[in-house]
Amino acid sequence: MNRVSSNEDKIDIYSREVLITRDEINYRIEQLGREISQDYQGRELHLVGVLNGAFIFLADLVRHLSIPCQICFLQASSYKDQQVSTGEVILMHNLDLNEKNVLVVEDIFDTGLTLQHIKEDLNMQKPASFEICALLNKRITNKASINVKYIGFEIENRFVVGYGLDYAEKFRELPHISCLD
Ligand code: IMP
Repeated sequence: MNRVSSNEDKIDIYSREVLITRDEINYRIEQLGREISQDYQGRELHLVGVLNGAFIFLADLVRHLSIPCQICFLQASSYKDQQVSTGEVILMHNLDLNEKNVLVVEDIFDTGLTLQHIKEDLNMQKPASFEICALLNKRITNKASINVKYIGFEIENRFVVGYGLDYAEKFRELPHISCLD
């Protein structure tokens, strides 16, 4: 992954390339909402948002679902203000998902390490079903072999921010997705 050369306080985010616009995001989330609603017809869905990055995506996604759902969150940290993974994933939650139809909602499927940890952890609770939805799928080699059923967009191996995604806790509030490198 490319490193960002400047300090985050000096980044002029509005001069950076917009990779995915707000309209493109809205359109795609509407499609995902329809697809997920069809797939879970007749079942109650338990959405598990991965904090912090997925909070905006999840909030928009649920408004495009036409089926009953419950919403909860877990906290996952791995990057710790860096742009390269430390390899260490820390999960925090107080969830009970036994016999539930679980759909994990994540901001980005990068190496897949975080999702792999989440899958192993939540599957210990024996949910009725387990699937993953990620807004972005980063094209890199050596990804964890994990099935992400719903993907919003495929992107190149760039460091992106906005729409919930951060660099050192900054830029989450952007309505679109921009590249930092
Ligand atoms: P993974 O474990 O390598 O798949 O990374 C998962 C987490 O790393 C994501 O949930 C993000 O929080 C963070 N991450 C990975 N790539 C990016 C990026 O391009 N921008 C911002 N955060 C990222």
